[in-house]
Amino acid sequence: MMLSRKMPLCKRMHDTKDSNKIEPSLQSLQKFVPMNYASYTQEYYQFAGKKIVIQESIESYGAVVWPGATALCQYLEEHAEELSLQGAKMLEIGAGPGLVSIVASILGAQVTATDLPDVLGNLQYNLLRNTLNHTAHLPEVKELVWGEGLEQNFPKSTCYYDYLLASDVVYHHYFLDKLLSTMAYLCQPGTVLLWANKFRFSSDYEFLDKFKQVFDTTLLAEFQESSIKLFKGVLKWD
Ligand SMILES: C[S@@+](CC[C@H](N)C(=O)[O-])C[C@H]1O[C@@H](n2cnc3c(N)ncnc32)[C@H](O)[C@@H]1O
Repeated sequence: MMLSRKMPLCKRMHDTKDSNKIEPSLQSLQKFVPMNYASYTQEYYQFAGKKIVIQESIESYGAVVWPGATALCQYLEEHAEELSLQGAKMLEIGAGPGLVSIVASILGAQVTATDLPDVLGNLQYNLLRNTLNHTAHLPEVKELVWGEGLEQNFPKSTCYYDYLLASDVVYHHYFLDKLLSTMAYLCQPGTVLLWANKFRFSSDYEFLDKFKQVFDTTLLAEFQESSIKLFKGVLKWD
């Protein structure tokens, strides 16, 4: 079913006050330290009945929440039962500061959040801060550089996922072919890929054309005001 909806304004609440004290155990896990403190902030979100606090910094694309993430969170929240998220095995690629993985964990999934090495400290910090004592399965964090070491680090025999999650992983970068091959590699029979993305450039649509050659593709939701589309992809087996 195709939905057309506005992004809810109440989902994201900006607050520069440090109203939540950081627990010492979490502080020790924080490897990523923003260098420019003027760029450092906390953003507040509300999903799955929980207030979620995300530490962000404009120093890295992977340290801020992108619009595709809130769209995907909203979809997961509203379709949690239909998607049977309780206990579902999920892997997120390009998880950034971790909002999608946090919401999926709160909704009951067993999540592995992945990204480039330099953003993993901040990702780990946000995941723990928001899921410790709030989830049946604590999310894991793992390095995954698109197209690199997949057989070695994610062998198909042990790494089966019900869902592969991706938000705003398609933008102006040089790794689009590796991204597509990574998406395909991580999907096995039965895996559903949920990919939300803001469409800005012609290269985004070119990626979508290639994506459709590899995946049976369904448009699940479209947010016209923000140009975000959310797709379901099932790998073609022929
Ligand atoms: C635009 S950000 C989106 C972050 C998050 N998914 C969101 O929507 O808020 C793109 C993410 O992809 C990651 N990324 C970019 N190139 C990558 C690569 N070659 N391998 C793995 N991750 C990559 C970045 O580190 C970043 O976290």
